[in-house]
This record gives sequence, structure tokens and C-alpha cells, in this order.
Amino acid sequence: MDNLANLRQEYKKHQLTEELAHSEPLKQFAVWFQEAMNSGVAEPNAFILATVSENGTPEARVMLLKGVDNGGFVFFTNYESDKAKDLADFPVATMCFLWLGLERQVRISGPVHKVTREESEQYFHSRPRESQIGAWVSPQSQPIPSRDFIEKRLQETMQKFQDKEIIPLPSNWGGYRLVPVEIEFWQGRPNRLHDRLLYSEHEDGRWEITRLAP
Ligand SMILES: Cc1cc2nc3c(=O)[nH]c(=O)nc-3n(C[C@H](O)[C@H](O)[C@H](O)COP(=O)(O)O)c2cc1C
Repeated sequence: MDNLANLRQEYKKHQLTEELAHSEPLKQFAVWFQEAMNSGVAEPNAFILATVSENGTPEARVMLLKGVDNGGFVFFTNYESDKAKDLADFPVATMCFLWLGLERQVRISGPVHKVTREESEQYFHSRPRESQIGAWVSPQSQPIPSRDFIEKRLQETMQKFQDKEIIPLPSNWGGYRLVPVEIEFWQGRPNRLHDRLLYSEHEDGRWEITRLAP
């Protein structure tokens, strides 16, 4: 750990100018997401989800983006997890994507709503059978006595569903959609003088682009 202060990487692969940026942030996100996919970065759909807990502290954890549609960013989780409790108390969140291979970060903030049951059904049934069973097994975010507890529940749940072709969607599992009101695209540049373009939504639905100091 001695050399931490000397770890230093210059960012010089790309730039983000007002001329290059798309006027619509979701289209700009689509361009960068495709480039992240093409560049082979690990788990390009992984992002940090920040929420506000009951006592006002920020909470953050890694999640996987599963769709961008109806003007929002969709992810799936357990509706009784800590993050779900946070979102019930404060239905707002920030998502932060890091695509290090491209020296890029995207931060997205806005209100969060549950997706419809039909949308959750559709995604749930597209998952591998084992993952569907996993959703039944884990009381996400609850303290459990041991690893054995989960293994035992897995065996019991597999047995319960062994004759069922279709695993039902658990009532405590589903998706959320974050509808952005702000999206910031950050492109690493030399000498720590990075490009930052912030898209903010006006009441009439128009997006304004502001350059922020790095
Ligand atoms: C790469 C990666 C992807 C993850 N994707 C998800 C996800 O899509 N949904 C989810 O509920 N948890 C996901 N997790 C687990 C969460 O980070 C977290 O541990 C879990 O959701 C419980 O969070 P909470 O107690 O704050 O509710 C992922 C973790 C990692 C490292």
C-alpha cells in the first residue's frame, strides 16, 4: 500500500466536445454504451446505485442495468432489500457507470418507480431457471445464520419447483425504472483537465447541456 500516492494514470484516449455530444442524453448514453460493449470492458452494464437511507446516510452498491426504455434506466432486485426500503422512503437515486477502459464515467440522477408487474414477469422468465430459483431462495439484505442456511433453502426450493415448468415470479422481486433529470458524461483528458458535460432537463422536456469544470 506504500505506493498508493504514486499511482497515476494519464487519460488521453478520447475527448467529449459540445459538437460531438448528441443533443439527447439517452442517445448519447446509447453511443457510449455501445462503445463500452465494443471495447470489451468487463460487465459494461454494471453501475453503482446510490440511495438515501432512512437515517439520511447514503448507501451504494453495484447493480446491473437491464434496459433503457420508456425514458428510463431499468434494474431488478428484491423489493424487501435494503435498497428497496431506501427507495420506498426516498424514491430518488443516482446511478454511476465507470468504463475505465474508455476513461469514462456517466452519472444519472432522478426519481425511481417500480416497473409494472408485466415487465418484471417478462424479464424474470428470461433469466436462467437457476437464477429464477435464486430469487426465491435469498431474503436479500437480511442477516442469516450461515452459508448452510442458503444451501438448504436452495435444495428445498428446487424440490418445491421440480415438477413446475414455469417458476412463478416472487411477489417480493421486480424492477425499478430511474427516469433521469440529470445526466453527466465525463471523459478523462490529460493533466486532470477532463471533459464534463451535464444534461439537465427543463420543465418543457428540453435538455440543456452545461460544461462543468473538471
Ligand atoms: C457485478 C455485480 C452485479 C450485481 N447486480 C445486482 C443486481 O442486478 N440486482 C441486485 O439486486 N443485486 C446485484 N448485486 C448485488 C448488490 O451489489 C447488493 O449486494 C445487493 O443488491 C444487496 O444490496 P442492498 O442490501 O443495499 O439492498 C450485484 C453485485 C455485483 C458485484
